Amino acid sequence: MATFSLLILFSLFLVLPPCLVADPDQLQDICVADLNSDVKLNGFACKPAAKVTEADFFFKGLATAGATNNTMGSLVTAANVEKIPGLNTLGVSLSRVDYAPGGLNPPHTHPRATEVVFVLDGTLDVGFITTANKLIAKTITKGEVFVFPRGLVHFQKNNGAAPAAVIAAFNSQLPGTQSIAVALFAATPPVPDHVLARAFQIGSKEVEKIKSRLAPGK
Ligand code: GLV
Ligand code: MN
Repeated sequence: MATFSLLILFSLFLVLPPCLVADPDQLQDICVADLNSDVKLNGFACKPAAKVTEADFFFKGLATAGATNNTMGSLVTAANVEKIPGLNTLGVSLSRVDYAPGGLNPPHTHPRATEVVFVLDGTLDVGFITTANKLIAKTITKGEVFVFPRGLVHFQKNNGAAPAAVIAAFNSQLPGTQSIAVALFAATPPVPDHVLARAFQIGSKEVEKIKSRLAPGK
């Protein structure tokens, strides 16, 4: 009986879609993205093998701190397939986040990836919120790691007096980022005021105020 159940379980794994992984597995060694191709598929078309070079697998953009002199006091530098074409079909990517003292990487989600951060420098208050609205939060410091499960809203805040930085790893070549406040209050075309007023239980004047603060270019 046990052998029979195991056999059923095993055959289910063979036929079920790969729902436990993020990006699909690759079917070849490399498929360097042709970012200019008109062919649209789940990922990017591969460029001809003869045109592939080491530059397709290289990026130095995470070597230096990003400029954090903006309204949030933080900057995310992505190292995904759009920057490293060699990541196409490999299902992984990184980013670096720099935080000024007091800086916030505001609440956001990645629809296609779980994220693991490793603190390079400083101390951060980090957290995510489950679908049961439970906040899982911790203060993490240099050398420590924290996980933000796929799709859940999360944030990092530098409450220290010194700058902070993390390297974030994702199980997707292009995790996608949806910043909650910007998605709701700075969408194009705009989300109607009455929707936001009702959702947040505030007046339309307050909605307009938030919209003007988050308008692109502000
Ligand atoms: C941090 O949360 C990031 O998305 O880089
Ligand atoms: Mn994130």
